[in-house]
Amino acid sequence: MRTPLIAGNWKMNGSVALINEFGQAFSAAVSPTNVDVVIIPPFPYLDAARHAFEGTVLSLGAQTLNPIHSGAHTGEVSGRMLKEFAVSYVLVGHSERRQLYKESDEQIFARLLAALSVDLKPILCVGESLEERDAGHTMDVVLRQVGYVMSRLEPDQRKQVIIAYEPVWAIGTGRTATPEQAQEVMAGIRAYQAGFDKGLAEQLRLLYGGSMNAGNAAELLAQPDIDGGLVGGASLKIDDFYAICQSAG
Ligand code: G3H
Repeated sequence: MRTPLIAGNWKMNGSVALINEFGQAFSAAVSPTNVDVVIIPPFPYLDAARHAFEGTVLSLGAQTLNPIHSGAHTGEVSGRMLKEFAVSYVLVGHSERRQLYKESDEQIFARLLAALSVDLKPILCVGESLEERDAGHTMDVVLRQVGYVMSRLEPDQRKQVIIAYEPVWAIGTGRTATPEQAQEVMAGIRAYQAGFDKGLAEQLRLLYGGSMNAGNAAELLAQPDIDGGLVGGASLKIDDFYAICQSAG
C-alpha cells in the first residue's frame, strides 16, 4: 500500500554529463515500475536535471534549504528557489549536515517547516552514532530526533514527512546495518508515529540509508517496515542504482 521510494543522494559529487546519462538510462520506456525514484544532485545541476529528466520516471530532490524565503544570507538557497527548478523533495537533518555544519534539531525543524510551506516533501534523516549504538541508546537517539520534529507538527503536516533512518556508522563505510537491525529501528519509528495517528503511521514512508547497494538492497527492502532507500555512493553508478530501484519495484 506504500509506494516504495528510492532516492539517490549524490552529496558533493556528479557532473552535468552524469545527469544526462541518468536521464537516458531512466527513460520511461525502460524504467523500473511501481517505485518512486528521486535523484538529489548538488544545486548547480538542478537546472540540467530538470531538462534531462523530462519524460523519465526520475523526480528531483535537493540536499538542503534555508529556513527563510529570501534575504541577506550569502551562499544559501531557499525552498522557493528550488520550486522554480521542479524540485519535489528535500533532505533535512542529514547526518553530514548535523555533524559538519552543526545543524541542531531546532534548525532542522525550521528547515522542514520551510519545505512544507512551499509544498516540498521533506525527507527527515535520523540516526545514531556508533558510540550511541554501542551504549544501547539507538532507539532513544532516533526517537528524540524524530520526536523533536513530529511532536511540533500539525496532523496534516505530519503526513507529508518521509523519514530516512541512517545509522551514522553505516554511511559511506561499506558497513550496512543488518536487515534485522534496520527493521527493529523502523518498527520503533512507525510505532512512535502510531502514537499520533495509527492511519498516518501506516502511510508513513520509511527509508533505510547507509551503504545500501545492488547486493544488499533486496534483503533490506524485504523488511516489513522498510519502504525504500536513501542511497549515497551507489547512486552515482547507473547500473547499481538501477538494480536497487528494480529491487524495490
Ligand atoms: O544520503 C545517503 C546516505 O548518507 C548513505 O550514503 O550509501 O554512501 O552510505 P552511502
